[in-house]
Amino acid sequence: MPVYTVSNVQNLKICVVMVGLPARGKSFISQKIVRYLSWLSIKARCFNVGNYRRQAGAAKPSAEFFASDNAMGMKVRRQAVEQAVADMNRWFFEEDGIVGILDATNTTHERRDWILKMCRENGIEPMFLESWCNDQDIILRNILEMKATSPDYEGCDPEDARRDFLERIAKYEDVYEPLDETRDQDLTFVRLINVAQQVIINRIETYLESRIVFYVMNLHIKPRVIWLSRHGESVYNLEKKIGGDSHLSPRGLEYARKLPELVRESAGNVDLTVWTSTLVRTGETAQFLPYKQLQWKALDELDAGVCDGMTYEEIEEKYPEDFKARDEDKYEYRYRGGESYRDVVIRLEPIIMELERQENILIITHQAVLRCIYAYFMNVPQEESPWVSIPLHTLIKLEPRAYSTKVTRVKANIEAVSTYKEKGTSRVGEPSQDRRPLQ
Ligand code: SIN
Repeated sequence: MPVYTVSNVQNLKICVVMVGLPARGKSFISQKIVRYLSWLSIKARCFNVGNYRRQAGAAKPSAEFFASDNAMGMKVRRQAVEQAVADMNRWFFEEDGIVGILDATNTTHERRDWILKMCRENGIEPMFLESWCNDQDIILRNILEMKATSPDYEGCDPEDARRDFLERIAKYEDVYEPLDETRDQDLTFVRLINVAQQVIINRIETYLESRIVFYVMNLHIKPRVIWLSRHGESVYNLEKKIGGDSHLSPRGLEYARKLPELVRESAGNVDLTVWTSTLVRTGETAQFLPYKQLQWKALDELDAGVCDGMTYEEIEEKYPEDFKARDEDKYEYRYRGGESYRDVVIRLEPIIMELERQENILIITHQAVLRCIYAYFMNVPQEESPWVSIPLHTLIKLEPRAYSTKVTRVKANIEAVSTYKEKGTSRVGEPSQDRRPLQ
């Protein structure tokens, strides 16, 4: 059954046109938006013009290539953006894309007017998103990141790369025309000043555009860590029952006692905040942690409806069709009177938004909820997310970086049952290799 969202009901297509000098975090913002929208099942894709330019043969150009009086450079760059826009259009119309992001500098009025015209001719809503920044710390951090990750500087001496990149920025500065509140007053645009210290928004007209604006307003680039843990083993886990609100088993309590030490070893003296669900087993798991704690109803386990409190064997026997349907499409399947993974993702959206705003958070919650949070940070495709293994008695450390998230897992070495159920069986047990969480 097709799933309708606000965006596809209206047949809306939005082209987010990034604007800004190099090293202003445009690619970081673009990729975050794609990840966020994809997690919410809104089809989004980033078209990075630098990649098209590299494919067009200018793989490692020096700063000179980017000078506005370099005819050959201008020609290749023009071809690159035209190719990116052509691919984006194909994707919008042949693959039903909803939000395409044109990740490029788009620094001149001329370039932006050309994109505007293309959007208008094709019934696409243009939304300009400018990252303007004069905070030298942020720029220097972005330059370091660029040197470390851009294929343009692969194998280059770091000092040469830094000098060349600064020169490249200067070439762009020569022609840069920022968005202008008077000249561009009829356009839909967002200007982020020094990340989101100040945000100027103009003519945001659709719900989806407002979601994107709200999301980028909440982004920050300070280093931070998110720790994830399931509650300790519960009495229901031992009985192979799902749902419920049972207490911890003796081994689960042992994990709760060990957790402060595990967290201290991983976090050092960092002051963090603990988020739990409102269910007994997460509160019991957090009880010995010496940090501020908050309970969120949105972190409660996926509601199994009429199956709450049953074992998988009982569900297979009593509701065989439901059991099969869930295995076939675990993301969409909604328990009778309960929830689907999709429902959980929707109720987790405020949690993700708040996580983007915060610095160091430890979340103690439940298997399905952790799978959804993990999928957001690790970019796990929707259909795979309900099958990711998140074992008991394991602390997962996530360190979001500019283009990816680093994961470290620390086992507590306290025995626990496995609650993982493979497809096609009602037995629980450790998953096969391909279902284990990505490293
Ligand atoms: C690039 O070629 O690296 C970026 C193209 C641009 O947007 O200027």
